[in-house]
This record gives sequence, C-alpha cells and structure tokens, in this order.
Amino acid sequence: MDTKNLYINTIGCQMNVYDSEQIAKALIPLNYRAAPSLEDADLVIVNTCSIREKAEQKAFSFLGRLSRLKRKKPGLIIGVGGCVAQQEGKKIVKRMPHIDIVFGTHAIGRLPLHIKNIELKRYRIVDIEMSEKIDEFGHIDGFQQNKNVTSFVTIMQGCENFCTYCVVPYVRGIEISRNPENIIKEIRHLVDSGVREVTLLGQNVNSYGKKEKHCSFPELLARVNEIDGLARIRFTTSHPKDLSEDLMHAFKDMDKLCRHIHLPVQSGSNRVLKKMNRKYTGELYLEKVERLRNFCPEIAITSDIIVGFPGETDADFVETLDLIEKVGFDGLFAFMYSDRPKVPATAFPDKVSKREKKERLQTLLDFQDRFAIKKNVELLGKNESVLVEGFSKKYSKNADRSMPENIQWTGRTSTNKSVNFVRRKGSVLKNYTGKMVDIKIEKVLAHSLLGKQC
Ligand code: SAH
Ligand code: SF4
Ligand code: F3S
Repeated sequence: MDTKNLYINTIGCQMNVYDSEQIAKALIPLNYRAAPSLEDADLVIVNTCSIREKAEQKAFSFLGRLSRLKRKKPGLIIGVGGCVAQQEGKKIVKRMPHIDIVFGTHAIGRLPLHIKNIELKRYRIVDIEMSEKIDEFGHIDGFQQNKNVTSFVTIMQGCENFCTYCVVPYVRGIEISRNPENIIKEIRHLVDSGVREVTLLGQNVNSYGKKEKHCSFPELLARVNEIDGLARIRFTTSHPKDLSEDLMHAFKDMDKLCRHIHLPVQSGSNRVLKKMNRKYTGELYLEKVERLRNFCPEIAITSDIIVGFPGETDADFVETLDLIEKVGFDGLFAFMYSDRPKVPATAFPDKVSKREKKERLQTLLDFQDRFAIKKNVELLGKNESVLVEGFSKKYSKNADRSMPENIQWTGRTSTNKSVNFVRRKGSVLKNYTGKMVDIKIEKVLAHSLLGKQC
C-alpha cells in the first residue's frame, strides 16, 4: 500500500501539541506519514484552540485558505479537531463546505475509522461525542517519534474548576486521569527514542489520580523520577488553590524535577479573583510562594495574568502590579480578557474597553521586563547546567557552518531559562544535542541568556 501524506497544523497549548502526536500515531495503520509540505498533503488536519477569540479566528482563517487547495486537489481530505471543533461541531461543516470531518477532543481514538470511511465513501462526518474514559494509543511500531530532546506527556484530561472566563471545562470535559502504568510505559518508550526531558501535562495536575484513586501527583513524580536515562521532569499546570506541601517537598527531594513552577495567578485583586471563581486570595497566593521558596530557594516562578476582566478597575489593576512586584516572577504570560461562548463572564457587566485592555497589557509587560532583567542579572558569571535542545535560532538562520567555533547551541536551565552558548575551544564534542552541559553565563537579555561552555 502506498503511503499517504498527512499535514497537521497545531494551534493552542501543549495539550494540543501532544494530541497532534497522538493523531499522527493513530493514523499510522492507515499508512499516513508526515507530509513534506502542505501542498503535498492528502489529509490536512487543523488542531484548533478556543481559549481566546484570536485563537479561534486563526483556525478559521487557515481553514478558509484551504478551500483553494481543495479546488486544485479535489481528493484532499480536510479535518478539524481540537477545542473549536468540540465547541462548534456541525456549524463548521455548514459554514465551510470543503471540510470533510469535524472531530472533538474525545474523538481521536475514532478518527482512523472515520478517515477510512471518508476515503471509501466520501461522506462528511461530525463526531463531538465526549466520554468518561481516556483513549490509550500505546506504542506503535513505525511511528516516527519527534526527534526532539524534550517531549510532552498528557497525564490527565479535562477540568472541573470552572473559572468564569474559561472555555476549557466545556471543550475538554470532566477531569479524567490516565493510569500511572501507561504513563510510565510511554515515558520509557520516549526515553528509548532519545527524549531526555518530559513535561507532564494537565489543566490542574494537583488533582491527578484523585477521582480514580490512582496514586497522587507527587507519587507519580517519584515514579517518573526513577526512570533510567531520563534527565529532567517538568509539569504544567498547577492551580494555586491546590498546590500541596507534598508537591513543594518534591522540589526539594527529586533530583530530576526542574526548579520551575508555572503557577497562574490571573489577578492580584481579591475582588476580581472572586469573580473569576479562582478560590484563593492574593494573600494566600503570596503565602504559598513564600512556602515554596522556603522548600526550594532557587525555584523559578512564572505565571499567567488576564488584564481587563469584566469590572476590573484601575485600582484592581494596580493590585495586580503590586502582587507582581511582591512575587518577583521569572516570567509572565499576560492576556487581554476575551469573551468566550457559554462561559459565565461573557454575561458579566462593565466590560473593559479594548483600548484600556491594550494599555494595561503594555504597562504590565513593561513592568515585568524590569524584574525579568533583574532576575537574569543575578545569574551573570554563574555556572548553569543546561540541557541542549539543538542549534540556536540565530545560528540556524545565518552563521557560517564550516567553523565549529561559530556554532551557537541552545538549551534551558533547570529554572527554564533559555541559554544560547558557544562550545569551549578544543572541545572534542561535536554534537551537543541532548547533552547536559555546564555553561558560564556571560550576558543577559530580558528573555534569554548568553554563555560559554565551562
Ligand atoms: N489550567 C490552567 C490554564 C489553562 S488556559 C490554569 O488554570 O492556570 C491558559 C491561560 O489562558 C489561563 O491561565 C488564562 O490566563 C488564559 N485565559 C483563559 N481564558 C481566557 C479568556 N477568556 N480571556 C483571556 N485569557 C484567558
Ligand atoms: Fe480554565 Fe480554570 Fe480549568 Fe485552568 S483551572 S483550565 S483556567 S477552568
Ligand atoms: Fe488548550 Fe486552547 Fe484547548 S489552550 S485546552 S487548545 S482551548
């Protein structure tokens, strides 16, 4: 049987990146392999995100452009998966006649059967059924695992926190945790294929295993920590209300667990946090940060913030800036509030204007940059252990490859800071990818560091 070309466009969070890999894996038995380019594809899948309006628009604009490709190549199959597919379902096929299949976030396991049917009978399918069990894809021989040094592993799906602005519980469904045995098996396979670092994914990893009475999240971490050949473990995301002492201990006790936590605070105003249904206060957040730093003083803390939540006043925004100053984050992802279908906040009064949201976002980012630089300056002259991921972007673009001295590599510190570096003169090592190397930090920028191999 001839192989067919599969092109996947992934929009959205790490979970979608992981799901796209599962989609590619699930389609191996149907003989689909990665397409060299979009134009060569026999099957195009758009894995969509619905977290903000912009992400949704991005999906529809790409899908719109595909209609031209389909006119040129009528046999082309086009599929829409992910969170917008789950949210919009049938509406997508009505709106876009060139789409063959819409499949939701729980339909990846059924995708091969659907594609087979489309290949044979060319009918259109919408499958957005949700289930209460998780699909396991296992290891498939012949699956060309990405050749990256680091890989994502979803450990649980769904979310039951219902923050009032967030679409995730509606498009990803109830919380379901994977069996720890399957997770460990999967990570072992990844390590066998060259992966050195895994990031365990869940919307709130702290509730891993609770419902199913598997082990707890810190217990799962301890098991992953024992896997030979694995160098580093990361995880995301941890909800501040559920961050436990056990997890704080893990940062102290587990040698492979990276010294970094992403702990989204969303706002520094208790009034806004309450309306967001986050179930903690700014004070409780600060207390947890302090406890974390007692356990692990070198830990890097990053966060997400929403500016312009309905009813957010200038005074609320100033409280957010105050909290940022008190914590001293290593990095921030800030977003302008965006109305989403079905979520309660969409109906909240006192919407903040686009202009104000933009201004607050810019103020916040400028404010944060000062702290980021300050944090990075503390690293000047220090030696940091870096897991090398490959050539730096700058080098990949324009350096002279004939001179090994010119090669600039890139990797990350345990605290998740990007470091670009050059090798030590006379080093015999040719390929640094996947290696753990000690780097002396010689220059700092707001979002990256420059150094030299020690
Ligand atoms: N489970 C994670 C968040 C996943 S969504 C957690 O609870 O932290 C990633 C981020 O998108 C959120 O932290 C939030 O900052 C942002 N976000 C979610 N819904 C949003 C909306 N309607 N408008 C703007 N930003 C939003
Ligand atoms: Fe969304 Fe809140 Fe769940 Fe995070 S915890 S995914 S922000 S509902
Ligand atoms: Fe992720 Fe976007 Fe869905 S952030 S869970 S792909 S809505």
